[in-house]
Amino acid sequence: MQQQGVTVWFTGLSGAGKTTISTALYQALLAQSFKVEILDGDTVRQHLTKGLGFSKADRDENIRRIGFVAQLLTRNGVIVLVSAISPYREIREEVRSKIGNFVEVYVNAPLTVCESRDVKGLYRKARAGEIKHFTGIDDPYEVPPNAEVECKTDQETIEESVAKVFTSLQQLGYLNHLV
Ligand code: ADX
Repeated sequence: MQQQGVTVWFTGLSGAGKTTISTALYQALLAQSFKVEILDGDTVRQHLTKGLGFSKADRDENIRRIGFVAQLLTRNGVIVLVSAISPYREIREEVRSKIGNFVEVYVNAPLTVCESRDVKGLYRKARAGEIKHFTGIDDPYEVPPNAEVECKTDQETIEESVAKVFTSLQQLGYLNHLV
């Protein structure tokens, strides 16, 4: 049986845990010999979408390009783990309908929690007005109403979050290939 491709799209605020969960899931899938790739906003913005900023138009363009690559990989049987804030519902839905095999994961942590983590020190800068249009501070985040999975990272462990996504992929029939 051949592996079916799927895009697993992690959306949520900066610091919510998208990269952490997707990296752990990546390791879990690799360990089981799945073909898997990661497209992470922070990394992708260093090459594929270099030069784009954080206006709505630029964020949408970022998501469109990531979606394009994810679509190519997905149709070739790869499990693609995308983590990007992807704050706008409409473009997420556009990408979902183009890709087809699409599982949306809402990585949900309250703004106060993301801000207290402040791993990159960007919330502090945003509050100080040194960064404008920071998601959650002075730029919108549109909650996904129909995400297949929700990970509440302030209430569950990384392992629990990863297991939730893994189980959902199993239930949706995406992890059925014979090793
Ligand atoms: S998205 O909105 O286009 O999906 P993406 O996930 O690629 O965003 O990049 C977000 C990362 O860029 C954040 O984790 C943070 O490190 C950095 N960043 C820099 N400026 C901003 C900003 N104004 N809003 C959000 N993230 C920002």
